[in-house]
Amino acid sequence: MPARLRIVDFELPQESFREAVIRGLSTHPKSIPSKFLYDEKGSELFDMITRQPEYYQTRTELALIDTYGDEIAAHFGPKALLVEYGSGNNKKIRRLLQSCSELEAYVPVDISRDYLIKNAKALVRELPDLEVIALSADILQPFSLPPTHANKQVIYFPGSTLGNFEPATMRRLLQSIHQMIRPKGMFLVGLDLKKDPMVLHRAYNDALGYTAQFELNLLTRMQRELGAQLDREAFFYEGFYNQSQSRVEMYVTTRSEQTIRIEEHAFTLEAGERIHLENSYKFEVESFADFAAPIGFRFVQAWQDDRKYFALVLLEAL
Ligand code: TRP
Repeated sequence: MPARLRIVDFELPQESFREAVIRGLSTHPKSIPSKFLYDEKGSELFDMITRQPEYYQTRTELALIDTYGDEIAAHFGPKALLVEYGSGNNKKIRRLLQSCSELEAYVPVDISRDYLIKNAKALVRELPDLEVIALSADILQPFSLPPTHANKQVIYFPGSTLGNFEPATMRRLLQSIHQMIRPKGMFLVGLDLKKDPMVLHRAYNDALGYTAQFELNLLTRMQRELGAQLDREAFFYEGFYNQSQSRVEMYVTTRSEQTIRIEEHAFTLEAGERIHLENSYKFEVESFADFAAPIGFRFVQAWQDDRKYFALVLLEAL
């Protein structure tokens, strides 16, 4: 292993996927937390989603980094510790790193451990001068940043993943970020903005069906890892914008009645019954800044594309 890569594990308890599924299928309406979508196959399918023409988010965020990266990085200053939540395949950070000189270290944090390590290895091979500390962790569970001599801690949370959490969880996450970055630390977040519902609908219903495959992959993961017995073929994907809640809702729905069995548990679903997998909340820059202010964040700047589809928002911890 290259000398410039360290791996730190804050591993999930083994039981948690099984427990979450059993708990989620026991409630009404049924739901399973979306973090379990990101096994290795899920992470690969998600990468395919980001390449679809309808899914403008990734492309727009990358363009913002290309255009404003130097301006953004100037706020970090020299010898910053750059932490990325949900680093995935490091595509965005590669571009941002081009604007960051004299970085203390880059800290990718991801829930998909194998995917994290595979990508971190590729990154150090490519950028041999970069110090990489890969953190395998669930950002909603307690974990800590590695102690370093960095001048400033910067957390980048790309992809509007923040919008996949409920407002109460968002607040909790912002509080934990605020505590983790010392005063004067910065939080850079990618936010998908409110817009024409048709544009949103298309983004979550790509013509080639990668979004559907991504969501349905959770059922395959349940079969493989939990030995779940279920009729995978009876399920289809549904995703639509709920305007009153400002969020895209994503489900897998069964066409016909079926019973999912996991060990001694049995869960019967009626024909047409949904399992809720994800929400993707849409934001306004100003109301987001208002949301973050009482947690102790000062709004620094926001960068947006011409169509105002997506924003990179920079906050400073007071
Ligand atoms: N956070 C992104 C979003 O909500 C990525 C994402 C999560 C996503 N789940 C998804 C994108 C399902 C498409 C389909 O947009």
